[in-house]
Amino acid sequence: MRSEPEESAFKNKVRTGSYPLIERGDVLWAYLGPADLMPAPSGIEWAALPTSHTFTSKRLQKTNYLQALEGGIDSSHVSFTHRFSLDDDPLHSGSGGNVYLKRDGRPKFEVVESEGGLLIGARRNADDDHYYWRITPYLMPW
Ligand SMILES: [Fe+2]
Repeated sequence: MRSEPEESAFKNKVRTGSYPLIERGDVLWAYLGPADLMPAPSGIEWAALPTSHTFTSKRLQKTNYLQALEGGIDSSHVSFTHRFSLDDDPLHSGSGGNVYLKRDGRPKFEVVESEGGLLIGARRNADDDHYYWRITPYLMPW
């Protein structure tokens, strides 16, 4: 309380809160609830992988919540809507799968329920012997 007079005792009344924060899978996870109800750290599989097996990106997306959600779980639209911006988009530029996203616009979807959400797999043909899978872990509420 720099603006308080030096003799002020107001500083003894003021408290700041803090929250536990951990980093897993290049994501900072904060728990903002009561300490006695804090759950165990996330057991999400991708968060435990070594960085050699993951790709992390960040970007500003000017959409509302529902538009972002719908676009995130619908892998098929990427082959058409984002075809010409994939290589410049931080979300996709380092993933290594853009060639497959452009080549196969008819992915086969497989959806599996998971704890707290869904795992949405979109399988595209890569070459004669391989598939390219784009997996979207949809976790409530984001
Ligand atoms: Fe999109």
